[in-house]
Amino acid sequence: MENPEHLKADLLAQVEAAATLQALEDVRVAALGKKGAITAQMKTLGGLDPEARKAMGQALNAVKDAVAEAIDTKKAAMADAELDAKLLAERVDVTLPVRPEREGQLHPISRTIEEVVAILGEMGFEVHEGPEIEDDWYNFTALNIPEDHPARQEHDTFYLPGHGAKGRKVLRTHTSPVQIRTMLKTKPPLRIIAPGRTYRCDYDATHSPMFHQVEGLVIDKAVHMGHLKGCLIDFCRAYFGVDDLPVRFRPSYFPFTEPSAEVDIGCSREGGEFKIGHGDSWLEILGCGMVNPKVLENCGIDPAEYQGFAFGVGVERIAMLKYGIPDLRTFYESDLRWLRHYGFSALDVPSMVGGLNP
Ligand code: PHE
Repeated sequence: MENPEHLKADLLAQVEAAATLQALEDVRVAALGKKGAITAQMKTLGGLDPEARKAMGQALNAVKDAVAEAIDTKKAAMADAELDAKLLAERVDVTLPVRPEREGQLHPISRTIEEVVAILGEMGFEVHEGPEIEDDWYNFTALNIPEDHPARQEHDTFYLPGHGAKGRKVLRTHTSPVQIRTMLKTKPPLRIIAPGRTYRCDYDATHSPMFHQVEGLVIDKAVHMGHLKGCLIDFCRAYFGVDDLPVRFRPSYFPFTEPSAEVDIGCSREGGEFKIGHGDSWLEILGCGMVNPKVLENCGIDPAEYQGFAFGVGVERIAMLKYGIPDLRTFYESDLRWLRHYGFSALDVPSMVGGLNP
């Protein structure tokens, strides 16, 4: 029979020496397990006389408790140490500056469309869309541009092979066909805008074969030229951010509006420097007019009951003017350096809506 004190000292030394959780577990099995050292000693108690057995039994139990407690204490300490080591290794220094991340930029065309939509949206216009591949009838005929009309040549149309239900397929030369589609589909009163891509076979510093327009259309029972003027003057002033921007309506011609006008805004070009606002120069920015009664008839709307006005804005043109972009072709070169220079962070965008109601 082993001296319980020696056994205890020996086992506690083993606990002390265990360097890993696994080693500690091995010690536990070797000491307290079914075939462990203490159990083995317990089995020898039967050979002792009752007095000695009681004393020895108590002593062995005390050894057992002491060893179990030492193991538990050591295990808890090891788990703590492990957690500390992990926390230390995985520590995040929240004071470190963030890594520079390349942020996406909004293309000035997207930004401009969003601005136009925000301004006209506040006035109650609803966004509609139409197809970029159009039938001749929607792009021309219904807009009072008949087959032999010179305006067809002026539009430098891209014709596509094939015919639709309403004539030859074309890439729409303007967003005006959305007027027709909307009037055919929806009963007046109407107040819609249609932003989108348009196509003409033209290419120089101020023309690209693909460009963007925003169409506007208002149809109601008592709409007159005063509404058209008020709406477009407000629009120009809000978009360019100049409260008293001079706006001029110059008589013009479009087959689908009568009378028609072109809208000019005031600007100055002193000393080679171009500035929007007051000055002795004018700059054309959009076309507009009262919807031609023939167009209303083509869409099944009675011109004796309804009138309206329409306008078409060139998105690239007003973007170039507002943001000082000299060459229209750069919009489509996908040059990241250009985009970083002229682009807008997405966060800028809500501010333009705020800008309308400071
Ligand atoms: N569709 C015309 C163009 O592309 C613009 C316009 C739209 C003019 C609506 C008047 C009314 O030039």
